[in-house]
Amino acid sequence: MKNKNITVIGLQWGDEGKGKIVDTLADASNYVARYCGGANAGHTVTVAGERFALHLIPCGILHENTMNVIGNGVAFDPVVAMEEIEALRQRGVSVGPENLSISSMAHVVMPWHKMHDLLSEQQLGAKKIGTTARGIGPCYSDKANRSTAIRMMELLDEKALAMKIQLVGAIKNSTFQAMYGAEAMDINEIVEQYIQLGRLLKPMVRNTGAMLRQASKDGKSVLFEGGQGCMLDIDHGTFPYVTSSSVSACGVPGGAGVPPSSVGSVVGIMKAYSTRVGAGPFPTELDNEIGERIRQQGREFGTTTGRPRRCGWLDAMVVKYTADLSGVDELALMLLDVLSGMDELKICTGYRIDGREVDQLDPGVLGDFECVYETLPGWSEDITACENFEELPANAKAYVNRVSQLIGRPVGIVSVGPGREQTIAHETKFLVNRE
Ligand code: GDP
Ligand code: IMO
Ligand code: MG
Repeated sequence: MKNKNITVIGLQWGDEGKGKIVDTLADASNYVARYCGGANAGHTVTVAGERFALHLIPCGILHENTMNVIGNGVAFDPVVAMEEIEALRQRGVSVGPENLSISSMAHVVMPWHKMHDLLSEQQLGAKKIGTTARGIGPCYSDKANRSTAIRMMELLDEKALAMKIQLVGAIKNSTFQAMYGAEAMDINEIVEQYIQLGRLLKPMVRNTGAMLRQASKDGKSVLFEGGQGCMLDIDHGTFPYVTSSSVSACGVPGGAGVPPSSVGSVVGIMKAYSTRVGAGPFPTELDNEIGERIRQQGREFGTTTGRPRRCGWLDAMVVKYTADLSGVDELALMLLDVLSGMDELKICTGYRIDGREVDQLDPGVLGDFECVYETLPGWSEDITACENFEELPANAKAYVNRVSQLIGRPVGIVSVGPGREQTIAHETKFLVNRE
């Protein structure tokens, strides 16, 4: 039998609404833990009309008595983290060692990682990945490289840190100068800045893996908060147009320091349509007025970068693949309200490659091939105030049921707006109905 833990992951290309569902489910969790990505994530939580956009701080932060954990697998940017902590405090949310723990083993995003991200993208020109410029790829590259990486525990030993930053900073300066003709960074300034950040963050730096393993032994529940979406997974996504960490449920054990059994039940978050930011294959993309309509209606502009998101029809091939990859137990179907007012809706159920129809997605051969669509009738009603499944228009219910059938999993939650209260408990084991 599975334990009480829940893993929440994105089943498309990110921005599926993970933040909203993590916040909703966090009520019943003792811990909320991030295990992948970094400040490339932008998770939105809307409480009583107030909007919080969180990048590094887990979405359990708005709940009292929840310990929020930033795991060892996160590329941790102390500058962004301090800005976010300050911004939360200014809005009356207390953040400190009592509700935030940062892994001593998390890798630190340094100024040269952000610089490298920008320089590399500039050099690639039309071939660029379209990253968030948060230094994610370069930080994980240094992690794999080992000798040039800096972990959170190193921020706490000021003398050793100064020496390490001098050493790595000099390497970076000479490398960037040779590779890109870049101006040298002021390394002494970086030393001062990071020593200061280390002092501020020290009370929250802990062995979070040990903390989470003990929590399980004590019968406490952990909610793992995924970042990005499975199609952006370093191994299983649309490589090379991906991010640099293991974002599917398969990444939880390594990124949080827990055994595979701790993953618990998996809730897969999906939009009722598809979006993608940055470059890379997107078979159902609508580069037309329907896509523009979805963008405007769904306010599809990046939480982290403000970039307009590319929009398209729901691709059941994608979600079937990612739900299988992560062993999804139930789906949360988000932003259904955005589809209101459209005459008909399409769902991609297969691809036609070289005249041959396929019904399984292979991320290794994902290209601009033709999609096979199924057409469903739309609905005109505003559904943002619907409180239960029965209140939805018949065609909206039919759409939800068809999604469940195509993906082969129950739709546990239907979301009809950004607010906590706009969440319909349908075939869920995890969310208590408000009725
Ligand atoms: P995340 O990265 O997966 O947490 O998602 P983002 O926060 O980047 O993007 C999701 C956006 O959709 C946010 O602005 C949410 O407030 C909003 N949102 C979430 N669920 C719904 C919904 O059901 N309907 C509408 N209209 N907006 C939603
Ligand atoms: P959340 O957690 C959407 C995308 C970037 C780019 C690619 C690589 O909010 O869903 P990176 O900066 O990680 O090297 O960029 O991945 N990307 C995201 N897209 N939502 C995210 O996070 C993303 N995190 C990274 O747009 O295409
Ligand atoms: Mg987001």
